[in-house]
Amino acid sequence: MKFERKDILGLKDYSRDEINFILDTAESLKEISTRKIKKVPTLRGKTVISLFYEPSTRTRTSFEIAAKRLSADAVNITASASSVVKGETLIDTARNLESMNPDIIIMRHSAAGAPHILARLLKHQSIINAGDGAHEHPTQSLLDMMTIREKRGKIDGLRVALIGDIAHSRVARSNIYGLTIMGAEVALCGPAMMMPREIDKMGVTVHNRMEEAIRDADIIMMLRIQLERQKNNMFPSVREYAKLYCLTPDRVKMAKKNVLVMHPGPINRGVEIDPQIADGPYSVILEQVTNGVALRMALLYLLAGGK
Ligand code: CP
Repeated sequence: MKFERKDILGLKDYSRDEINFILDTAESLKEISTRKIKKVPTLRGKTVISLFYEPSTRTRTSFEIAAKRLSADAVNITASASSVVKGETLIDTARNLESMNPDIIIMRHSAAGAPHILARLLKHQSIINAGDGAHEHPTQSLLDMMTIREKRGKIDGLRVALIGDIAHSRVARSNIYGLTIMGAEVALCGPAMMMPREIDKMGVTVHNRMEEAIRDADIIMMLRIQLERQKNNMFPSVREYAKLYCLTPDRVKMAKKNVLVMHPGPINRGVEIDPQIADGPYSVILEQVTNGVALRMALLYLLAGGK
């Protein structure tokens, strides 16, 4: 199979074969990070720019590590330390970066659709969406699916519960698209005010009580409350939210015995997840982070023309 896409913007229109191809590529590259010398020459001479208008620990660092392990030249731009603070527009920033002839630009922005603008504007650069507002975070979903497939051998037919702030979560949206394409049964639960309006059309089930969503689940994905994206207070207090939606040792017993507990990070300990669960035997949270490097190596490799 040949990877035909110029950009990676969102998972909505991906096929199962395309997702499996990306995950297969990531699996084959994972071993590089365990070597004594964690570097291969595959992307020597390629330039990768990270352009982040929002904070990040995992996504930005793992893309930088991924680029460096493939021998690309990696450059990081933080908007708050760039000419953006002097009033430069997104389009002017993009045009100036284009003039330096990079190969791939990885972008995070608070506005949904911002990476799509760049992808249309720049004809010779690949754009990767590292999170655009509450819209999509495709690379997070791909690394989540890589982790599920690695642990369970498949995604098709598994019951995955997504719990929390669904409406404001770009991770939830990308995972709803990705997991349903891959044949998983997706069950959602969160406060009514945190459910997207178009949820009925997304091929998922919505549950009023967390216990119903996680019953017999193979996977529980917990989501962070996105306080930075909420216009009004959507629940009376954090304590009340935790009472209804925190993944506790008692609640986890309702899922399958070998359930995997996942979280994209950063986690709010004691709010959406009890520390005993976050650090306990069901948790694969840090394995998700490890897979993030391999998955992002795969995306850089495929966009740069790797087969
Ligand atoms: N999961 C995730 O996107 O984490 P960061 O915000 O730290 O990149």
